[in-house]
Amino acid sequence: MNIVAPSVLSMDFSDTKKSIEQLNNSNAKWIHFDVMDGVFVNNISFGTDILKGIKKSSDLIMDVHVMIQDPFKYAKDFIEAGANYYTFHYEAMKNDEKIIELANYVKATNTKVGLSIKPDTDVNKIEHLIKYFDLILVMSVQPGFGGQKFDERAVLKIQQIKKIINQLSMDILIEVDGGINYENGKKCREVGCDVLVAGSYIFKNDINEMVDSLL
Ligand code: DX5
Ligand code: ZN
Repeated sequence: MNIVAPSVLSMDFSDTKKSIEQLNNSNAKWIHFDVMDGVFVNNISFGTDILKGIKKSSDLIMDVHVMIQDPFKYAKDFIEAGANYYTFHYEAMKNDEKIIELANYVKATNTKVGLSIKPDTDVNKIEHLIKYFDLILVMSVQPGFGGQKFDERAVLKIQQIKKIINQLSMDILIEVDGGINYENGKKCREVGCDVLVAGSYIFKNDINEMVDSLL
């Protein structure tokens, strides 16, 4: 699949309405919503009220990526606020049992569930968990801030995850997030990435053109 998910973290917050309208009129099918709690990452972004607001102004798929210390605690709130995908971090969880429990909890609400790994986490750590998820998110920057440089190690990870998904013969999407532009986006697509998240690349230029360049 070829999906572009603009990250609203880089949106112009002085004119939110206009930015959302531009996304609605673009070829982006998803909106990527980065939640940061100032504990799991060194930054605070936004929570459920903002998600509810965006949801009211858009029919696009809400792709919620929580960079928070306790993803179980807030899952229900984000799902009720309109998350279509709820993606949490492997590194935030105590053990595999808890990861599977949360994955099953989210799926039981008819919401898609994703697992994310930071740049220093190897694929072999999550290999046995992939089958419990609808989406695997490979971080290509350290989570916390937009505008960082793409970490090339993500390309190999996508390749490894793709191989595992093919062996499983399951319908699981691969997403990459951080520092995405035309060049590295193309490389990620070539090795099997389905969803490209992009923030600064899209919002610093013409939204329509930038989205199209990643499709
Ligand atoms: C980083 C976020 C990313 C980020 C992407 O913690 O998860 O979604 O906003 O922004 P760019 O494309 O600017 O790296
Ligand atoms: Zn993200």
